Amino acid sequence: MEARNLLRFLALFLSIALVLIFTWVHLPSTPPNPTELLDCTTNSPWCTSKNRFQPKQPNLLKKSPKPTRRHNHASDKPHHPLDPLTIQELNELRSILASHALFKSSSYALHSIELEEPEKSLVLKWKKGDPLLPRKATVVARVDGKSHVLTVHLGTREVTVHETSSHSGYPTMTIEDMTTATLAPLANADFNRTIIQRGVDLTDLACLPISTGWYGESEETRRLIKVQCYSRKGTANFYMRPIEGLTVLVDLDTKQVVEISDKGKNIPIPKSANTDYRYSAQELHQVINLFNPISIEQPKGPSFTIEDEHLVKWANWEFHLKPDARAGAIVSRAKVRDPDTGELRNVMYKGFTSELFVPYMDPTDAWYFKTYMDAGEYGFGLQAMALDPLNDCPRNAYYMDGVFVAADGTPYVRSNMICVFEKYAGDIGWRHSESPITGMEIREARPKVTLVVRMAASVANYDYIVDWEFQTDGLIRIKVGLSGILMVKGTTYDNINQIPNQENLYGTLLSENVIGVIHDHYITFYLDMDIDGSDNSFVNVNIKKQQTSPGESPRRSYLKAIRNVAKTEKDAQIKLKLYDPSEFHVINPSKKTRVGNPVGYKVVPGGTAASMLDLDDPPQKRGAFTNNQIWVTPYNQSEQWAGGLFVYQSQGEDTLATWSERDRPIENKDIVLWYTLGFHHIPCQEDFPIMPTVSSSFDLKPVNFFESNPILRIPPNLEKDLPVCEPADSV
Ligand SMILES: *[C@@H]1O[C@H](CO)[C@@H](O)[C@H](O)[C@H]1NC(C)=O
Ligand SMILES: *[C@@H]1O[C@H](CO)[C@@H](O)[C@H](O)[C@H]1NC(C)=O
Repeated sequence: MEARNLLRFLALFLSIALVLIFTWVHLPSTPPNPTELLDCTTNSPWCTSKNRFQPKQPNLLKKSPKPTRRHNHASDKPHHPLDPLTIQELNELRSILASHALFKSSSYALHSIELEEPEKSLVLKWKKGDPLLPRKATVVARVDGKSHVLTVHLGTREVTVHETSSHSGYPTMTIEDMTTATLAPLANADFNRTIIQRGVDLTDLACLPISTGWYGESEETRRLIKVQCYSRKGTANFYMRPIEGLTVLVDLDTKQVVEISDKGKNIPIPKSANTDYRYSAQELHQVINLFNPISIEQPKGPSFTIEDEHLVKWANWEFHLKPDARAGAIVSRAKVRDPDTGELRNVMYKGFTSELFVPYMDPTDAWYFKTYMDAGEYGFGLQAMALDPLNDCPRNAYYMDGVFVAADGTPYVRSNMICVFEKYAGDIGWRHSESPITGMEIREARPKVTLVVRMAASVANYDYIVDWEFQTDGLIRIKVGLSGILMVKGTTYDNINQIPNQENLYGTLLSENVIGVIHDHYITFYLDMDIDGSDNSFVNVNIKKQQTSPGESPRRSYLKAIRNVAKTEKDAQIKLKLYDPSEFHVINPSKKTRVGNPVGYKVVPGGTAASMLDLDDPPQKRGAFTNNQIWVTPYNQSEQWAGGLFVYQSQGEDTLATWSERDRPIENKDIVLWYTLGFHHIPCQEDFPIMPTVSSSFDLKPVNFFESNPILRIPPNLEKDLPVCEPADSV
């Protein structure tokens, strides 16, 4: 995910800074004021087209009054204790901070302002109609070169400044950090000269802010970033035109160029031909229509509702959904209705993308540091741009906006950041038919309809599509799709027959002078499971081969399931093994089914690539949360970010791995499950100039949670029930 940084940037830039970077428009000295933000009618980079509300789908809203959309967030009010901070609350916060001694200094930046969620026990007790719990915010700020974490009580205007000196690392970059970093090299005459020597016009330059990782003492005392540049001449896909080997080290606080490393002077900039991926850039005669128009029709409207902006109710599911600048989307209080009792039963208190880790496999000067952590360094939600109706999400989708803050605390709206839609892909929920040998004519089948919550983060070049898919049988599928553009490396080669040893390429030659560098992607999910209550246990149900005794059976061997309840954290540090397999259950030991099984959910692994870097390789120390695919920790409100709170340039002393080493008791306790989806990516030519989506997913699946098949009684589809619709333009 080389491109991630870039992508992030790009995304950022695209939404904000492309204009700046590429046209040299001045950076906004101040973000727009809140009213400007609300309607995004100004030309502010904070309100670029990507941040505008997408035009609604006119028919959908008329036909489906249930999930209504708000146009304006200025009057949003919190309704639920987990609702994100509103524009009004964010403005209130700014005024509280403005009068606080810490912010009297002229140079400060607010790196994040998020709701400080009330204590879990209070949220669990809270019911609709109860007074809202006190509203608090966690503010991460940098003031005069120091990082601070504050709790601000909105009601009392009280501010608590927390101790943070024990943390290495820095807060998530602000958009302003990224923008100024990419502009900084231009203040340097050597940089300009190099660019011109490489044959690139300075007006064609596109630069990306690339997080530096952490590689020892020389990099520990200041906040640094590496900037690499591309030529955007002749293509929108500048990522395919790297100015290879040129790396500018920039101090993020002073905006000064620290060092320029220029090692690729002999490497040509790859040509722009065939790199543009935009529909508008394709020759009309080359466009291929492979299928007729297709759409899902819901003449009675969708079957889900979204109450008070964030509470999603669909079929037998109910959950709270909110956008988050760091995590992207957060699903909380997920409950499923029991078909026998009608009761809504707790499944998960909170789930989200906690961290990503994307190490590139090239140890050379311009590449070794590319080991991105997209959530903690760039903000996975900050990089999630507006979704494209009809293409990112189907016609029947509902869109939810994010409200984020600029570095000075000004709120702004990221519209259409998350979509929610019902999906019918022609799949089967369950079925059975009888063969004529039984004399019975039975054909029973039920359609599978699911509810999808989707967001897509464009972290510079790379795009991550994250889906939370809820099924009526109680299963939750969490899927990550990778698309977007590779981060590529320039080379002198234009054919592999010139290359003495292909393995020394660090990747695959994708096009003339373009190498797709091998890399991994790890996406670590925080899953606070609460199966029918908070006190749960983690059970490793190990599948063991049993040998029969001589004479016992014609069989020599069979498989047994051995249940091992994890007592402490180390019992639940799981590396997946194909020839020593297990199921991984989270159960409620004090809640049993009619026949006595503990109720539970299991995590069903998928996307099982494991990191193979040395454990003491600096990137792997920071990414140590990928040392196992599964971990279980006792619930602790301060342990939510798998790579640590301050990930940027962190040294890896505050990761999930270090927490888990404490080996705390986890049996029959409130526990958090962590699962990492992993991908190894050896690029191939089909990934050029933009990658077809590659997906992997894992499931949270009920095990003995229901008394029997929970969708036994759903009806089959009948011809008369289904709409036959005319194409919209023929009506
Ligand atoms: C480098 O080029 C940019 C763009 O032309 C210009 O604005 C800047 O002043 C130049 N920097 C120096 C030090 O000459
Ligand atoms: C909760 O997490 C923080 C941060 O890791 C740690 O300092 C604290 O000791 C933890 N509390 C418990 C009870 O484990």
